[in-house]
Amino acid sequence: MSRADLTLLPEWQALQQHCNQLETRHLRELFAADARRGEHLVAEAVGLYFDYSKQRVDDETLRLLRALAEARDLKGRIAAMFRGDRINATENRAVLHVALRAPRGEKILVDGHDVVPDVHEVLDRMAAFADAVRSGAWQGHSGKPMRNVVSIGIGGSDLGPVMAYEALRDYSRRDMQFRFVSNVDGTDFAEAVRDLDAAETLFIICSKTFTTLETLTNAHAARAWCVAALGDEKAVARHFVAVSTAAAEVEKFGIDTKQMFGFWDWVGGRYSMDSAIGLSTMIAIGPDHFRDMLAGFHAMDEHFRSAPFETNLPVLMGLIGLWNANFLDAATVAVLPYEQYLKRFPAYLQQLTMESNGKHVTLDGAHVDYATGPIYWGEPGTNGQHSFYQLIHQGTRLVPCDFIGFGQTLNPVPAQGGGDQHDLLIANLIAQGEALAFGKTAEEVRTEGTPEALVPPRSFEGNRPSTTILAERLTPFALGSLVALYEHSVFVQGAIWDIDSFDQWGVELGKQLAKTTIAELVAPAEPKLAHDSSTNALIRRYRALRDN
Ligand code: F6P
Repeated sequence: MSRADLTLLPEWQALQQHCNQLETRHLRELFAADARRGEHLVAEAVGLYFDYSKQRVDDETLRLLRALAEARDLKGRIAAMFRGDRINATENRAVLHVALRAPRGEKILVDGHDVVPDVHEVLDRMAAFADAVRSGAWQGHSGKPMRNVVSIGIGGSDLGPVMAYEALRDYSRRDMQFRFVSNVDGTDFAEAVRDLDAAETLFIICSKTFTTLETLTNAHAARAWCVAALGDEKAVARHFVAVSTAAAEVEKFGIDTKQMFGFWDWVGGRYSMDSAIGLSTMIAIGPDHFRDMLAGFHAMDEHFRSAPFETNLPVLMGLIGLWNANFLDAATVAVLPYEQYLKRFPAYLQQLTMESNGKHVTLDGAHVDYATGPIYWGEPGTNGQHSFYQLIHQGTRLVPCDFIGFGQTLNPVPAQGGGDQHDLLIANLIAQGEALAFGKTAEEVRTEGTPEALVPPRSFEGNRPSTTILAERLTPFALGSLVALYEHSVFVQGAIWDIDSFDQWGVELGKQLAKTTIAELVAPAEPKLAHDSSTNALIRRYRALRDN
């Protein structure tokens, strides 16, 4: 049987049959049938309380999903990743982000070479550099300490550092500025540096390949800005460091490789925030907090590797997501952190999940006949409630939600009328899950004395699934465990769908076409346009608007 034949597996067909029956049962009924469902369909590990009782599943669904995972050899696939097998087949690479957080002394071999000492060598160099910048020992070209750090990168070389900086801002140096530049739109760079003094500004150029158009363009702009302000090419040596796997390219750009922090081809861009790509995070929060974050990642790695599927958080999250996507036909997942510091978490997850599992061919090249990675999106609560939650509650599409919250706030603010604003925040989180699951029947609306004409628009069908993840407090450790939870749930789904979750060929075509188009836009004469009629007309119109 070809690996593409997922839907022909008896385990898949059993799930389909089971779905036909379970689909007719409302969450109200499932809760009524088991008075302790809200305690029973819960798992807890690495400080995360994971309540999936409001998902449209029962014990049988979970048993069948685990059987599917067994049939797809999920255990074998997990072992292969941790062993350093080249599971990124289309790029012929190992996938070892778990090695980035392996404690000193652990052994992980890539082609017979233990990579853990290499990881710690880079971490130690990063820590020494971060300490020097934070203490003022690292001085700029004119002898001033660094007050500003501008990280330039894109995709996996940006989204993780931005998200982690925002998430851990409470632990960060408040007397320093941290800025992030990613877009090739010159506005991004211009706004990031407009009020900075070049003499106190350190640029970290983050690019795994060091050939990415956006990053190299912005890095050149930064160098020109720095040299113009400081009046000396030599300033680059004190104001630029690089994070990359490509020493030759770094050198070509003009950064001494002594000022380069390396990582390895077995770290995917979107899995790299805990590698040297996190240098800005480490400077912001300090090496000790950074190591706490790594410990959170590692604790979740160990849990994923060893816990039985019944209580394994990433396995549960991955399987329930697959159930929603493949059997309940949900096309999206809304990630709704009730924690302002996690405001960039949904954006971070978009790359992690969609660049990983947005694939339509299996490992042996066959076109899939089932849905793969859902669309991830979201905003922090409560803002989303006043924006798109209407559709989640009463629209025609099924939008499974992940609610994320913490028991303790990092910023207690007394609320008018007693308690803390944090209680109001979490009351909203809890209420949303309840409203989505149980809704409000027409009968209930009528008993409130609602005029008959308003009963339909005021009724809520409910039966809309959600998971709630609670932790004690947003610490570096908690952030690490949360990110690793999502990383591994993506792995679980990719393994069952039999796709390569670690390549990203889908971004290449647009990049190639942009190169030809740039030449056509900047050509002084009317270019020979060999595109379709729409693309040709857009190129002409842009040139006309620009040159007007
Ligand atoms: O968008 C494609 C991609 O290759 C991402 O996977 C990656 O994170 C990003 O570009 C940046 O790449 P690099 O770190 O090589 O500049």
